[in-house]
Amino acid sequence: MNDSIIETHDLKKYFEEGRVKALDGVDISIRRGEYISIIGPSGCGKSTLLNMISALDRPTSGQVFLDGADLATFAALDEVRSHKVGFIFQLHNLLPQLTALENVIIPMHEISGSASAKEAKARLLLELIGVGHLAGKRPTRMSGGERQRVAIARALANDPLVILGDEPTGDVDTKAGLQIMDILEKLNREKGVTLIVVTHALDIAKHAQRTIEMRDGRIVHQ
Ligand SMILES: Nc1ncnc2c1ncn2[C@@H]1O[C@H](COP(=O)(O)OP(=O)(O)OP(=O)(O)O)[C@@H](O)[C@H]1O
Ligand SMILES: [Mg+2]
Repeated sequence: MNDSIIETHDLKKYFEEGRVKALDGVDISIRRGEYISIIGPSGCGKSTLLNMISALDRPTSGQVFLDGADLATFAALDEVRSHKVGFIFQLHNLLPQLTALENVIIPMHEISGSASAKEAKARLLLELIGVGHLAGKRPTRMSGGERQRVAIARALANDPLVILGDEPTGDVDTKAGLQIMDILEKLNREKGVTLIVVTHALDIAKHAQRTIEMRDGRIVHQ
């Protein structure tokens, strides 16, 4: 096998009976431990690409390989999670009826360990990301930035090999955004976690080792 953790082959995703070509033949290859930013104008297909990589949605055609395995052979999102991918989505981040703590525990259900150990770990993650005081609160009563940070703590819950972030700092001010990126970058540097971040913020994109640039559903630079 080669060293890539994520690979796509001629990946296409069409909407509206093919009138919208959100992805129009995307081939990318991302190596283990890389820190990648994905940039491009609004509507160019960035979120669609992450949704395909995270198996949140199925492609029209083409393939996605995660750690050498074809995602088409995976049954569901849970299986991708258990393959140690952490997601920070642009929308639909948290389950509103659960507390912050309960949201962070969700990805751990595939992992062995006692309920109290999982809870302790979830508390630690919330503290790490600066929202320990929100453990018992529901997302509907939080600000956008607080929700985003809880979502990041949740993305770290299964000790991911890959973290996919769709504008992970989109809802927070510049200072909080840089703190969040510091935490993610530290995981990349010190633990070799592969980091793939969609961003409009050029100062964040510049931190990455490599930038993939998209336009009209295609890769124009990688
Ligand atoms: N469920 C859907 N149904 C129809 N069209 C869709 C759907 N999801 C996305 N699209 C279209 O696909 C294209 C790519 O959308 P996508 O959300 O991937 O863009 P993006 O690069 O993430 O943009 P942004 O920077 O604004 O988040 C757009 O033209 C969008 O309107
Ligand atoms: Mg998007």
